[in-house]
Order: sequence, then C-alpha cells, then structure tokens
Amino acid sequence: MKLLVLVFTFVEAILHVSKAELFDPSTLIADTTYGKLEGIDLEESYGFIGVPFAKPPVGPLRFSAPQPLEGWNGTYKADFFGVGCMQRCSEPWSSCPTLIQEDCLYLNIYTPKDIFENPRKRGVLIFIHGGTFVGGAGGVPLYDGRFLANMTGIVVVTINYRLGAFGWLYLGEMLDPDAGEVTKLANFGMDDQRMAFQYVQDNIAVFGGDPNKVSMSVTISGQSAGSQSAGLHLVTEKSNGLFQQLFMISNPFALPYKLPGDALKLADVFADELGCPSRDLSCFRSKDADAVLAASRSAPSTIINPREIFQFFEQWSPTVGEGEYPPEPVEAFEQGQFTKVPTMAGTVTEEGRAYIYGVFSNPVPWWMYRVVVRLLVPNIGKDIIDMYPPMTLADDQREILNRLITDYIFLCSTSHISQMMTSHGVSDVYNYVNDASFSFYWQWGSDDTCYLYPCHGGDLVFIFRSAPLANETFTPGEQEMVDAMTAYIGNFVETGNPNTPVSGEQRAWQQRNLPYWPRLFEKPGNTYTLYYSACKNSVISGYRKEFCDFMDTYGYYGIPYLNSIPESMSFSDDQCRC
Ligand SMILES: *[C@@H]1O[C@H](CO)[C@@H](O)[C@H](O)[C@H]1NC(C)=O
Ligand SMILES: *[C@@H]1O[C@H](CO)[C@@H](O)[C@H](O)[C@H]1NC(C)=O
Ligand SMILES: *[C@@H]1O[C@H](CO)[C@@H](O)[C@H](O)[C@H]1NC(C)=O
Repeated sequence: MKLLVLVFTFVEAILHVSKAELFDPSTLIADTTYGKLEGIDLEESYGFIGVPFAKPPVGPLRFSAPQPLEGWNGTYKADFFGVGCMQRCSEPWSSCPTLIQEDCLYLNIYTPKDIFENPRKRGVLIFIHGGTFVGGAGGVPLYDGRFLANMTGIVVVTINYRLGAFGWLYLGEMLDPDAGEVTKLANFGMDDQRMAFQYVQDNIAVFGGDPNKVSMSVTISGQSAGSQSAGLHLVTEKSNGLFQQLFMISNPFALPYKLPGDALKLADVFADELGCPSRDLSCFRSKDADAVLAASRSAPSTIINPREIFQFFEQWSPTVGEGEYPPEPVEAFEQGQFTKVPTMAGTVTEEGRAYIYGVFSNPVPWWMYRVVVRLLVPNIGKDIIDMYPPMTLADDQREILNRLITDYIFLCSTSHISQMMTSHGVSDVYNYVNDASFSFYWQWGSDDTCYLYPCHGGDLVFIFRSAPLANETFTPGEQEMVDAMTAYIGNFVETGNPNTPVSGEQRAWQQRNLPYWPRLFEKPGNTYTLYYSACKNSVISGYRKEFCDFMDTYGYYGIPYLNSIPESMSFSDDQCRC
C-alpha cells in the first residue's frame, strides 16, 4: 500500500512537472532558462521565431567562440522572421533573410498545435541550412517549419550560424587580446551550431520536445553545407550526446575541407583585403561589419591550393585536421571513428546541374569535355571518359559533366559513407534519391537551368511543404510524394525508423499504403534506395551501382593527381572557350 502511494505520488509528480514545463497555451509564454519568451500563433503551429541562443558575436566577440547568453528580465517577443548572418544573399527570395546583421545567433521553433490535447513529448528535428557556408538563414519562407510540425506532430527547429569569414576564419592558437588568454580561433560556425543544439537540450521540453538522451529523440539534419555540418558533428566528440539521429540531405561528401595550412593562407589574404596586418585580431575587430563582409567575399578569389581544386566550390568552410576534427572526415567514417546513430541520407538526381550550367554558360563540345577531364585528373582521365563517354560527338556535354559531378561529389560519396556506417555497426541506415522537380516556377525564383529538373536544393520545398508561403500549390502527383516524404520524416524523427509511426497515433496520410523503405543492407547482397518521384515512389536496388563502384576505387578525398593550375585560374567562360 505504502509502495503504491509512493508510486502514485511519483507518477503524479512526473505528470505535474511535464505539464508545468510546457508553455502556456493562452498567452504563448514559455519559461526558458534565459527568461520568458512569447511566441506567436502561426495557424498550423505555434512559432517561437528569432529566439536568441548565444551572446551577440560582435565587438570583442567577433572571431571568437560563441558565448553563453545572459538572461533577460521581462518577456522577449519571439516573433521576428528572417534575421540572417552577414552575407550577400544571391538566392531566390524564399531562402534569403530579410534582415542581415552581425548579431545573428537566433533560432526558430515550431511546435504542433495538438501538443496540449496530447502532451506526449515529441521528437525534435533540428535543421541546418545550406548556402556553401557563406549564405542562407534558418527563418526564411523555404524552411518554415510550421507545415512539417503540423503534419508530423514533431517539433521543428531551424538555426543560424556565422557565415563566410565571420564563421570560418582560421587563426589557430593565439592570444585573444580582448579575452586576455591564448585560445584556439577556428570553426566558430560549428561552435554556433553546437550551442544551438545545447539550447535544444536545455529548453526544448518547454516547447513540447523531448531532449531525453535515451529515447533517440533529437535528429540533426541539414542540406548541402548544412548537411556537411551535420556530418562533421558525427566525427567530433564535442557534439556527442547532443543528438541521437541524423538526416543528411545532399551532402557533397567529396568536397575537401581546409587543413590548417591552407586556412591560414586564406586568413592572410583576408587580412590583406581588410587592410590589416596578418593575424591582427584587434585590427580585424575594429573594422565595421560591412568591411569584413567585403573582405570575406573578395579574399577567396585566389585559389589557395591548386592540388585541392574542389576547394573552389566552397571557399570558406570548416577547417579540419587538428583539435577536435580529423584530417579527413571521410576517412574517419571509413575507420569507424564517428558517432553511431540511425541515419537517413540521400541526394537529388541532378545535384551537379546548377553548378555545371553556372560554370559553363555555353554548350561544351565533346573535345572540350575530354580536355577538361584529362587536364584535371590526368592519370585516370581515360578511365573516366570510358565510364562517362561523351554523349554524342556533336552534342552539348554539360549533361555528362552534370552526371559526373552528381555521382562523384554527391551520390557515390554519400552511398559510400552510408555503407561505411553500416559496416561499422549502424544497421539503421536509409538511403533515398529524389527525382522530382517542382512544377511551379516564378515565385520561387527558379532559373531556366533548373526549371523542371530535380536540382540541388529543389527538394527543400517538398521536405518543408512550404509552397503555400509562395501562394503555390502542389500538383496531385507532387502532393502524394510530399505526403509520403512527410510520413517517412515524421516516423524517422519519432521512432528512428521511417516505416514506423508512433504507436496509437494515426495521422491522415499514415492510412495510405506507403512503400516499405528497406534499410540499405536489409537483405544481403543488395542495396536499397527509396526513389521519390512525382509519378510514383518506389524502392529500387543497386542504384547506379556500377558507377559508384567505379568511383569507390578512387576514393573521395585528395583527388589522386592534379596538373598544376595557374594561380589566377577562375572558371569563367572565356577561359573555358580556349
Ligand atoms: C534583472 O533584474 C534584476 C533585479 O532587478 C537585476 O539585478 C538584473 O541585472 C536584471 N537583469 C537584466 C539582464 O537586466
Ligand atoms: C494543423 O493545423 C490545423 C489548422 O490549420 C490545426 O487545426 C491542427 O490542430 C494542426 N495539427 C497539429 C498536429 O498541429
Ligand atoms: C500570397 O497571397 C497573400 C494574400 O493574397 C499576399 O498577401 C501575399 O503577399 C502573397 N505572397 C506572395 C509571396 O506572393
């Protein structure tokens, strides 16, 4: 009897605590570790938008690790959309921030409305935006989490992190004159992301999320540079325990990060552009943010390391190879040195298209294709041309270049990593490929290159279901695909398996028959990929296997041999016309 009373009291205490923790439905005021936040009703979900998670990284805190926020008195109104870190955004309006400033460490939380009828703690999806580490922001229409939260019942969080030199300047170990101590100055952008993860750990229960480390309930995800970031969090112990699952969207795994030597060279070019002596932190901090942005943009026009030509694609990026990051993250995965978590990872079918058509604005004749390939990788150029022959003699070869880049940089490297994860003990790895392009056009600012092609980034509007914010609607085919995608994502975030919903909860789309999505190696001797298409979702096996087997033999870091490239080389059309 005594025991029963005790158990009863205990259960009551738990219920009481979890109820008291949730924000107040009538005022939308949430009591966080830093103070009170007032959210907004977004119709489909509750939003806490523009929530600060670190001290503004300005003044003496520019080019330093993010510092913990100080609390506030009173109530902070969390209703400001679209604040972004310093950048010149060249993306369509749907993914550009409306306010760009150095004080930019904010995140956005979307809580499903049924949280009060059903106060079960929800799985949490943290999304890290892309933009080649120099652009983008969390709180933009494209990544608006209100629809995904509404349809899945999960809590969606989008985050900001510092970009360009602000986030990725590498100075190594040195005396920080403002902090008055010797410290390592590197990878502030990664630290920003980690601090946002920590905020989720400390506070998400108030917003209906479940930070519980045992129940596999925080999934980190990202697209492109955000996906690279998510992958990097797996190979550093510093991020351990802040997430339990991974969802990688279009990770260009084969792009090299910088090693400290190259990163320091870039820092010197940057100092020069800014009009400061090399590694003069006080001088760097004395300039206004626009001057720093200008130097950040002009510094990388020099090719820092001609042997790592692919660095050209991401001129500012994380520095690896010392401290908490391994020299070659791909190699760390190969050697099993990564955090083992259930993973969903995939690519779109034409990842390379926007890049290739951006670089070569005119058709590429067959002979130029041969010249480019053999110049870049002389020792295997012939093998590559045998595997990826020019399409016809007279034709435009940009299509085959697109295929080559898509396979090498994105698809095959991602499937290689997925296989490495499985062989090092992560059995729950789910791969997908997305072959759907969106049917609507002008309002998302798509250019002709990608109109009706499944390009890099073209799947985000499906993942977030955010078309209504552009007053667009999905076609019936798209809607069916999007519903399936939503179901898989929601299931994965909640249970670690895209096929398994939370028991006892039925959402409308779950009643449809979704194709069963097998794990990568569900049956021996084969690999499985979920194929998203606006015609029909299906499961395929051995997707582009012969091409990826071919790529695997060359590996995904340090392209073996590279002819020397002139310092001033840029991929402009003039030079390519020869
Ligand atoms: C909040 O109020 C307390 C008591 O008045 C004061 O000591 C503290 O400095 C205030 N904090 C902030 C961040 O304004
Ligand atoms: C989804 O949004 C509708 C209103 O648009 C709302 O009635 C419903 O409760 C929401 N569901 C969840 C799970 O948030
Ligand atoms: C969508 O329609 C609403 C209502 O007509 C309008 O206020 C809003 O500006 C439109 N949005 C876009 C992106 O066109």
